[in-house]
Order: sequence, then structure tokens, then C-alpha cells
Amino acid sequence: MDIPKEIDSKIDAIIAQYPKKKSAAMMCMHLFQETFGYFDDSAIRHIASRLEVEPIEIYGMVSFYPMFTQKPRGRIHIKVCRTLSCALAGSYKTASEISKAVSCPIGETSDDGIYTLEFVECLGNCVKGPNVQVNDKLFDNVTPDRAEKLVDTIKKMDSDGSLAPLPPFSKPAGGDFDSPEYKG
Ligand code: FES
Repeated sequence: MDIPKEIDSKIDAIIAQYPKKKSAAMMCMHLFQETFGYFDDSAIRHIASRLEVEPIEIYGMVSFYPMFTQKPRGRIHIKVCRTLSCALAGSYKTASEISKAVSCPIGETSDDGIYTLEFVECLGNCVKGPNVQVNDKLFDNVTPDRAEKLVDTIKKMDSDGSLAPLPPFSKPAGGDFDSPEYKG
């Protein structure tokens, strides 16, 4: 992957906020995920080199945290909670119904590259399961019989632009790394 100079400038600004380069790893990785959508070997090596750590340390984080991915995801990322409360409320069947409705196998990206459908662990809204997160939007009580309606909603929101994920690293105009938006 080609890593533009602008990304290195952003990495410099992130590193400057931490007493040790290594401590900037998570923020640098979010930057890459948001910018490129995934990590390939060159991205992992680049971050490792900038933070002066071994690539295996970055690889370990990429493979551990579910928000990072080694494959490009679709524009619409559907995450179905499979932890106990949601599972008992029918989330496995919900995922299966969504899978049929968007023609995307669970755990994969659709052939047209639009959807990625995955199981995830607890989304923090257990009492209202099954919970489904689509990009940055949370939908609760998505029982299997409501899966098709959810997909209709997703398509409508996608066409009117309200489903776009928030790009946290592009929000601050001019790269204002001290802004609250940047730091979350
Ligand atoms: S178990 Fe699904 S949100 Fe917690």
C-alpha cells in the first residue's frame, strides 16, 4: 500500500502527544484503519518502524482488536452481537436473515463490495437485544422477523447519505490534533 507523506505528518503529530512512541500505537492504528480501511503487511511494517517496535507487536494488535481488519471491508459494515443476551434473543437467526437479505455470507464481504457482515461480542446494550450495529449506528431489538425491515432501513439510509461512517481523523479541519473530536 502507498502511504502518503500526509499520513506520516499525522503520525508525527500523534506521537508528539505521548511520552513514549510505543504508546501512540492505538491512535496510529485507528488512523490507518480509517484512512485505508485495512492493514496489509506494508502498513504493519510502516507503523512498527515509525514507533520503533517489532512488526509482530502491531500485528498482534491488528489480529486482536475487532475494529482492525486485514481485509478491506464493505462500505456498509453490519455487526451482529452474538454474546449471551443477544444470542438468547435470536441474534444468530437475525444474522442469518440479514445475510440472505443482503446476499452476504456471515464473516465475509459481499461480492459487490458493499456489505461486510460479521458477528461481534457485546455492543453494550444487552437489555434491548438482539443488537445490530451498522457503521456507527446502533439498532436494537432486531429480532429475526425484523431483519428484513432493518435491511430496508439500511438501504434507505445509505441512499440518503445518513449511514456514512464518521471519519474521526478527517473531522478536524487542517489536522487539529488537539481538538476534542480528534481525541474522542
Ligand atoms: S449481549 Fe448483545 S449487547 Fe450485550
